[in-house]
Amino acid sequence: MRHARFRPFALLAALALAVSACSGGTGSGSEAPEGSSGGGDAGGYPDGSITFVVPFAAGGPTDTVTRLVAEPMSAELGQQIVVQNVEGAGGTVAAGEVATAEPDGYTVLMHHIGMSTAPTLYPDLPYDPLVDYKTIGLVTEVPMTIIARKDFEPTTLEELVAYVTENADTVTYANAGIGAASHLCGLLFQSAIGVTVTEVPYDGTGPALTDLVGGQVDFMCDQTTNTTGQIEAGEVKAYAVTTPERVESLPDLPTTAEAGLPEVEVGVWHGLYVPAETPDEVVQALSDALKIALADQNVIDELAKLGAAPVPEDQATPEGLTEKLESQIELWRPIIEEAGVTAS
Ligand code: MLT
Repeated sequence: MRHARFRPFALLAALALAVSACSGGTGSGSEAPEGSSGGGDAGGYPDGSITFVVPFAAGGPTDTVTRLVAEPMSAELGQQIVVQNVEGAGGTVAAGEVATAEPDGYTVLMHHIGMSTAPTLYPDLPYDPLVDYKTIGLVTEVPMTIIARKDFEPTTLEELVAYVTENADTVTYANAGIGAASHLCGLLFQSAIGVTVTEVPYDGTGPALTDLVGGQVDFMCDQTTNTTGQIEAGEVKAYAVTTPERVESLPDLPTTAEAGLPEVEVGVWHGLYVPAETPDEVVQALSDALKIALADQNVIDELAKLGAAPVPEDQATPEGLTEKLESQIELWRPIIEEAGVTAS
């Protein structure tokens, strides 16, 4: 697996869309610790179960990564980690809840690239990603794939572009809300081909993919951690991967650059956050556990099967995630502002 770079194109600036945020409900899941090796010198932390808040639906890519990493973190910290899905508004509902949670290390947010785009996309965002949290560390880099329902007419990316252009008024694109990775990739695609299609928002790309397989929507762009199984099983049609290099687990899938759309290049990064007033020792305990989890062979193997990889150890740190977040906010702000994309 090669790490995906995240490099949206200025071409996006040509696109002007007014879009509405979606709302969502909740879901839950849990991981039980396999064993305990203690939580380190953090004033007795943790002495109870920890909740990992996922801002999208259960069964989707963010949920998958969270559950995978939560298991070895739970073993390392010696406490259960409960996974809670708090969907809605492209991940901003969950992020807002964690910003105002008790700053005690028992409520942790797993979020992705959307943490960096929300401040620009949402004029009334009730939190500041750079002020209201402490960062624990970067977690993964995940490529995306452009896919369609399996009986969708186009068979190559070139044909998809032609088809969408000719049928823009009827084609539907699934996303996971404004600021979700699927939404951002869709913006890049539409900007690149100069066409706007009808977007269908979901609480996550888990349910979106179910509808795509069922033929209720036409196409989408989503992380390999959600799409690999369906691509391999032939349940969806796959056109391209959105990273500069092919993904080892899907070797036959061309890159968007190879297939003629180099503008659609995007990778999804994930990170862990806690409320800003959380003690530094607690942050350190979580960060240490994250590093151990990312070195876990099962985590590495499972991510590789899904086309993804843990970040290098030096990025699985508070500094690593802060640096990523700051640079991505700066990267996206002018593009989104110029494109006139807002959630209202
Ligand atoms: C996204 O589009 O941002 C993700 O696929 C959301 C999810 O985890 O469902």
